[in-house]
Amino acid sequence: MAEVAPLVEIDRLMAELAKLARISEAEPPVVTRIVFSKADLRARAYMKDLCRVVGLSIREDAVGNTFVRWQGADPKLAAVATGSHIDAIPNAGAYDGVVGVLGGLEAIRALQRTGFRPRRPIELVIFTSEEPTRFGIGCLGSRMMGGVMTPDHARTLRDSESRSLDELRGQAGFSGNLETVLLSEGHFHAFVELHIEQGPILESEGIDLGIVTHIAAPASLKVTIEGEGGHAGAMLMPIRHDALTAAADLILALEAAAKSSGVIDTVATVGVCEVFPGAVNSVPSLVRLESDIRDTDGTRRDGVVENWKAVAAEVAARRGVQINFETVNADPPAICDASVLEAVQNAVSSAGKTSVRMVSRAYHDSLFVARFAPVAMIFTPCRGGVSHRPDEYASPEWIASGVEVLARTLANLAR
Ligand code: GLV
Ligand code: MN
Ligand code: MN
Repeated sequence: MAEVAPLVEIDRLMAELAKLARISEAEPPVVTRIVFSKADLRARAYMKDLCRVVGLSIREDAVGNTFVRWQGADPKLAAVATGSHIDAIPNAGAYDGVVGVLGGLEAIRALQRTGFRPRRPIELVIFTSEEPTRFGIGCLGSRMMGGVMTPDHARTLRDSESRSLDELRGQAGFSGNLETVLLSEGHFHAFVELHIEQGPILESEGIDLGIVTHIAAPASLKVTIEGEGGHAGAMLMPIRHDALTAAADLILALEAAAKSSGVIDTVATVGVCEVFPGAVNSVPSLVRLESDIRDTDGTRRDGVVENWKAVAAEVAARRGVQINFETVNADPPAICDASVLEAVQNAVSSAGKTSVRMVSRAYHDSLFVARFAPVAMIFTPCRGGVSHRPDEYASPEWIASGVEVLARTLANLAR
């Protein structure tokens, strides 16, 4: 069967990316779009309008995952799917996630423009809350789809203002039964996610695209350190049990544990540190940390966590504080599917692009879709490898290549 040559309208797509970036809780160029915020709901409405204009049908599940369908000639067949997320962490940029959503839509439109008619349905999925900002756990929508988070667990989730997932999704207009979010094996014929690399390799090596073979294993732990508070002037140094100085020891210990793993693939971050009571003249009595630990090898990552906990026990004894760990998630890595990788590789060749096989160090919804469908990911370069920052940037040429290869891949898989 002859190859389709998708007609990507990159100027239109770049204008849509710019418009979506302005739907933010912060002043441009900063993008902040926390799940179920007003900005998230406006961004969802914008996306759905764009999809309806080109005749796609829309289904939303109980947690707000959105399935946009281009019907196939044989609607009973499992769909070939693509997609990503439109929520954004505080102080983010304009490309993380949205390149895979608006780019996925443009891939469908680019195929429609050629007159191509898929045999299988093609679906664009907009996942709810890939980012962990609101509920403290990443990939909420895909995690529930993949059965990695049960509805009972989801019902216990609260945001920092103690508002439950049920309350917030209800206010956002998603009131169905959480049990219906789960998708079974075979629901998708294949899933391909387009995303910016969020690392420097493609740009620095001048390669058009990355073909992701593995997604690294993420873990997140919350740590509570309880010490003894008191007057910052009157409490003498020898009798202190300062929770923040203990936290400082712990943060440095995590950095050391990650660095001592022996490989560059181990990374660890403490990105949240809350200090109580948080007054300049008061010795901190309580500190809450949130940590993020990842590796391409899940066992090695778990070793870093164990090493860290052992140092924590020593810090607790030496400083006379109590340290408690709570594991939020500790997910295994995902391996992309050989036949979907081959479809991407063929699309790269027929588009005349260059590519390299690589590991995704960031997590993505594909990590959880891989639990019930064969997946692969396509990475576009991004400037300086910068992401999760307002100066995140991907050029029109890079994005156009990614969308073209995505469209060719979807067409081949949906024939
Ligand atoms: C996703 O945003 C990640 O933190 O990898
Ligand atoms: Mn992100
Ligand atoms: Mn992302």
